[in-house]
Amino acid sequence: VEQFFHPKTLKGQHWVITAGPTVEAIDPVRYLANRSSGKMGYAIAEMAARAGAKVTLISGPVCLAAPFGVNRISVESAETMLNAVQKSITKDSVFVSCAAVADYRPQEVADEKMKKSGDDGLVIELTQNPDILKWAAQESGAFCVGFAAETQNVSEYAKAKMERKGITMICANDVSRCDIGFSCDDNELQVFYRDNDHVKTQGIGPANKALVAEELIQLINKVRQS
Ligand code: CTP
Ligand code: CA
Repeated sequence: VEQFFHPKTLKGQHWVITAGPTVEAIDPVRYLANRSSGKMGYAIAEMAARAGAKVTLISGPVCLAAPFGVNRISVESAETMLNAVQKSITKDSVFVSCAAVADYRPQEVADEKMKKSGDDGLVIELTQNPDILKWAAQESGAFCVGFAAETQNVSEYAKAKMERKGITMICANDVSRCDIGFSCDDNELQVFYRDNDHVKTQGIGPANKALVAEELIQLINKVRQS
């Protein structure tokens, strides 16, 4: 641990990290959300700052304090998260896309609180959100690291996602397990990364998210510099 923090391995680097869920408004008092706690992204932000990086943490609504020395930007929807990322990121940044971005949002947001009508059900039309990571990979020039939360065919889906988004590195976690991943303090990652024509893999954990973050940061730094 001491060797990692001294000397400050990430000194001079700018890391942009998204974390937590996005919430998508239905009306002034209701939204669509997901079970992301933000713990993994916050752990990465904290450890990157401790390792000397300048850190911008773009976070959906979570119950976590901003880690010491981290510049946190709070957002709600995927669209506001995309805006914040576009303002923060440069071609020299490292971008870690840890947020559980909602894939869809209600097509129309009601101006007033919606009222029940009769005994009928309700259909809400959804429209697809922008893909923030894909934008970063294609347009920003930053070194991009994605996450892939899967419940089945974890490594196969994760590798396909890495190709589809045009990123160098993806961290897969199996969110069907209840001992790791969403809202837990522990995590286990299978990281895939491109090395010339090959795809290499490295397992991290199972361990506390702080330890997982530390190992992941070292791996990102190594792959980025190779
Ligand atoms: N992501 C993003 N913007 C979105 C959706 C996803 O930036 N609108 C990012 C996530 O932060 C994550 C990666 O893309 O790093 C993969 O997210 P995931 O939900 O696993 O993949 P999707 O491409 O949305 O595909 P699907 O949910 O259908 O598996
Ligand atoms: Ca998704």
